[in-house]
Amino acid sequence: MRIDIITVLPQLLESPFEHSILKRAADKGLVEVNVINLRDYSDHKQKSVDDYSFGGGAGMVMCIEPIANCINALKRERTYDEVIYTSPDGQRLDQKLSNRLSTLNNIIILCGHYKGVDQRVRDHFITREISIGDYVLSGGELAAAVIADSVIRLLPGAISDETSALTDSFQDGLLAPPVYTRPAEYNGWKVPEILLSGHNANIENWRHEQSLERTRLLRPDLLD
Ligand code: ADE
Repeated sequence: MRIDIITVLPQLLESPFEHSILKRAADKGLVEVNVINLRDYSDHKQKSVDDYSFGGGAGMVMCIEPIANCINALKRERTYDEVIYTSPDGQRLDQKLSNRLSTLNNIIILCGHYKGVDQRVRDHFITREISIGDYVLSGGELAAAVIADSVIRLLPGAISDETSALTDSFQDGLLAPPVYTRPAEYNGWKVPEILLSGHNANIENWRHEQSLERTRLLRPDLLD
């Protein structure tokens, strides 16, 4: 899978892909994440990528030209399954959407900034707008990192324990059960007996019950 992230702040995206599961996935060749500086596609002397809003109003708007230059250059190299724009207006990211995105070959993520992007970009280049929640970030970079992280960890082979990503919270519509590790007792606080029993079927039943109980308690909306 290839993820091209277009941004005016490439420095913000240097670190997230350099560690742990995301780095391992890249090292194994499961994913290639390319961070592209939008300013490299500006025709202006000062490399500006934004301008005042027609009709007035506070805040700058991202211009269509550098974005079109950039997306068209990428599209000359390969076909893209989705051109995503990060925006609080978008479809809310959830596990189902991450699963779907993880099956694609090539995606572009355009990070929003300032007061937004010229509407013509959204009308003519963007195939999907995604929000990571009902709050406003200073820019789309952190949202792009969240989207990419949730997708990359699902790629087969990204997580060493094959079943690990499949047993995540939300993967079956339920929250994950509680987990414990050594010591079996700390400060008088004991690990549930059943987990030490070695009886796999009973343990699986217990975990499922715990998942249901947690979901009922913390996220009843998921059971609707
Ligand atoms: N840009 C600003 N806020 C955002 C959000 N909540 N989700 C995605 N992109 C954003």
